[in-house]
Amino acid sequence: MADRYLSFTATAPGRFLTRRLGLPQPAALSRWSPEHTSLTGNLLHLTAGKSTVGDLVAVLSRTGLPLGAADPAAVVLDATGVRDVDTLAEVHAALHPVVRSVAASGRIVVLGSPLDADDDHHRAAVQHALEGFVRSLGKEIGRGRTVNLVRLTDAAAAESTLRFLLSPRSAYVSGQVIGVGAQPPDEPGDRDRPLAGRTALVTGGARGIGEAVAETLARDGARVVVLDVPQAETDARRVAERLGGRALALDITAADAGERIAAELPDGLDVLVHNAGITRDRRLVNMPADRWGPVLEVNLASVLRTTDALLAKGTLRPGGRIVATASIAGLAGNAGQTNYGASKAGVAGLVRALAPRALAEHGVTLNAVAPGFIETRMTAAVPLFIREAGRRMNSLAQGGLPVDVAETTAWLAHPASGAVNGQVVRVCGQSLLGA
Ligand code: NAI
Repeated sequence: MADRYLSFTATAPGRFLTRRLGLPQPAALSRWSPEHTSLTGNLLHLTAGKSTVGDLVAVLSRTGLPLGAADPAAVVLDATGVRDVDTLAEVHAALHPVVRSVAASGRIVVLGSPLDADDDHHRAAVQHALEGFVRSLGKEIGRGRTVNLVRLTDAAAAESTLRFLLSPRSAYVSGQVIGVGAQPPDEPGDRDRPLAGRTALVTGGARGIGEAVAETLARDGARVVVLDVPQAETDARRVAERLGGRALALDITAADAGERIAAELPDGLDVLVHNAGITRDRRLVNMPADRWGPVLEVNLASVLRTTDALLAKGTLRPGGRIVATASIAGLAGNAGQTNYGASKAGVAGLVRALAPRALAEHGVTLNAVAPGFIETRMTAAVPLFIREAGRRMNSLAQGGLPVDVAETTAWLAHPASGAVNGQVVRVCGQSLLGA
């Protein structure tokens, strides 16, 4: 279902009327396309305190954006050296004069230190303070601009993350705190096709977000396997054929799904995207077991089983990536979704618990995307008023598109993203739900 309000506010009379009525003013977001691969304008590099992250300038100069103060499309504020309230004031001093000049659909990325870097509680307090700062700025900045915080120790390890956040690919990612480790990046031979020679499997890939993920991973060079239930086989084949991949008709809840995937992929798998998901909404008082069970089976139990099987069998090769799909409903809770919320919070729990071991023992990273309101068949079925509220109640005042989740998945699947592990990244335009 198209967002007619967004189209209306893009017209002059629509803008005039909605401004007069004090209604939300969603900006048309500027997303990646083959003709629009980069932000337009300069990258302004600012510092608060004494940086602790190594050669950030070298990394920033590889983002493709010219470094300069005029007409910034993006600002990177290195606040890794903020250690007390006085150096925190440098964050204000650095950004206060430039915020207004950041272009529409521009980016502000604040860099902070990991919270466990030492036990100086003054430093910990002001490093935490950066989260409140970033989330507040994200809520007020408007015009399609995003604000995110990256906690890092080494600029080089965070290059793929900075490239993503400083590009049109991250249009619907705002208000996030992303931790990046120190794993040296594995740079792909071909930057335009970073997944060339790799195989990616997307569950629930026949439509919606999964279809967009398959498309985006194929764009990045992956051979895609589009897995979906046998009833959706025609759609799965259509998607796979268009992308030069193959379809796999399989119900992911089958007890032996992992073994069957392993048998289909004797040469191994590099990227596994757990995207298949269902809802069976009802308040708990009215929810029979047959609405609880299937949601937990599809959204959580099958994710646990197939992850275990594909790691144990070594199907997921070293350098592999698993991206699971949580939901902001799982992080914030949502009336009528005790089953769905439980399943999606479970996915986030799995990611946090297993990620360190998956990397140490198998060389595979494990992260989750947590979509907010994304325009798909699933959300088109939501009653009108709840749908309108879902769309508007975020800092960008609009729903996201499947491609926004897909681009976030592609960043996490990137060979150079090995330092990003155990993260749950919301793709929600900084939704007020659980923010
Ligand atoms: P969708 O309903 O459009 O597509 C889901 C796909 O998964 C379908 O092709 C379906 O056939 C497949 N599927 C369902 N059960 C399966 C099974 N047992 N085995 C294999 N495939 C199965 O859903 P949408 O909107 O594209 O969502 C994709 C994922 O994103 C889901 O995990 C959903 O929970 C999550 N999500 C979606 C949000 C949204 O706003 N659309 C918000 C938050 C999370």
